[in-house]
Amino acid sequence: EEDILSRLPLRGKKVLITAGPTYEAIDPVRFIGNHSSGKMGFEIAQAASNLGAEVTLITGPTQQSVVSAFVNVVYVTSAEEMYQEVHKCFNTTDIAILSAAVADYRPKTVSSNKIKKHDATLTIELEKTKDILKSLGAIKSKQVLVGFALETDNEIENAKKKLISKNLDIIVLNSLQDKGAGFGVSTNKVTFILSSGEIIVGELKSKSQVAEDIMDLVLKQLNA
Ligand code: CTP
Ligand code: CA
Repeated sequence: EEDILSRLPLRGKKVLITAGPTYEAIDPVRFIGNHSSGKMGFEIAQAASNLGAEVTLITGPTQQSVVSAFVNVVYVTSAEEMYQEVHKCFNTTDIAILSAAVADYRPKTVSSNKIKKHDATLTIELEKTKDILKSLGAIKSKQVLVGFALETDNEIENAKKKLISKNLDIIVLNSLQDKGAGFGVSTNKVTFILSSGEIIVGELKSKSQVAEDIMDLVLKQLNA
């Protein structure tokens, strides 16, 4: 009996995960989006569920499907919707892992009619979306807060800055420079930076293995 419990170390814990891209409407038929497949977040949801956690997965539009019946999936489209849903759960959550590729900008106004092609050029004014992760860092109490960073240059330095400015416990740095890492593929090469300053450089691994590594680190943080 004790053995079963030790294999489910997150039993009774609530885990909040964001995944996928967000779509920001331009008009009724068009949007601004990105290439995020959502795979990483769905793998994290599975890994957390395998450890016995009660998982809420808040996801933008993806082709992924959830395997575990113990994952509560909330489907959203825009950054604003994701922000609202995340804040509905955060107070009661123990662990939040934000892997979504949230749009940084959205059209300042959404045209209610389909935009017609008139001129040779078209300018769409964009405004910043809310930084969901940063907003959680500002209000967190006991929660373990994990973010991601996608960088192409000064990777470690930039990721460290994000860890500090967003008040995170762990940041997972994604390298786009390596073949086989990042968007659309099932492997990932990541570096973990902890709030203690410790840096753990990972190998090229499957996204499900990376998800298990993330949960291992979260467990250590939770028990620290
Ligand atoms: N994030 C978020 N809400 C946003 C933008 C980002 O929650 N509006 C989260 C992502 O889910 C990720 C982390 O913030 O966990 C870092 O995202 P990233 O795009 O790497 O960094 P930004 O802070 O958006 O900065 P920049 O894109 O300028 O590097
Ligand atoms: Ca960004």
